[in-house]
Amino acid sequence: MPVIILSHKKLSYKWLRFAVTGIEALDRQHQGLLDRMNALKEILTHGADPEETQARLLELRTLFEQHFADEDQRMMTRGFPGFAAHFKAHQAFLEGPLLQTIMDVQGQEGYDLGALIDWEAGHISRFDRPMAEYLLANPENE
Ligand SMILES: [Fe+2]
Ligand SMILES: [Fe+2]
Repeated sequence: MPVIILSHKKLSYKWLRFAVTGIEALDRQHQGLLDRMNALKEILTHGADPEETQARLLELRTLFEQHFADEDQRMMTRGFPGFAAHFKAHQAFLEGPLLQTIMDVQGQEGYDLGALIDWEAGHISRFDRPMAEYLLANPENE
C-alpha cells in the first residue's frame, strides 16, 4: 500500500510558537491550527495511508476556512484599511498547493508540513498582527 511520508526538510518546527496577536479568540484559533499540524506530523512520521492523510488535510482546510472567515469578518465590519490585501492572502493560500500532497523526484508521495508551518507563521507576523493592532486600537462602538 502506498504511504504518505513527511518532508524532513524541517524538523525543528515543533518548538515553533506562532506570534501572539493579543486577540484571544484568534490566538486560540491559531493554537488550534498548530495543534492540528502537530497531530498531522504524528501520523505522517509513521507513514500514514493516503486516505487518512487526505481526510486530515480536508479537516485542516475546513479549520483554516473558518478561521479566515472570522478574520475577514472582523476586518470588514471594522473597516480595516488593509482588508483587501489580507483577504487576498487568505484566498491565495486556499487556492495554493500547501494543503495538498506532493510527489518527490523519485515519484514518492509526500507532504511538506514545514512549508505549511512557515506560511502560517509568516502570515501571522505579516498580516494578522497588524490587523490585530488596528482592531485593538479601534474598539467597536457599543
Ligand atoms: Fe489572516
Ligand atoms: Fe490568522
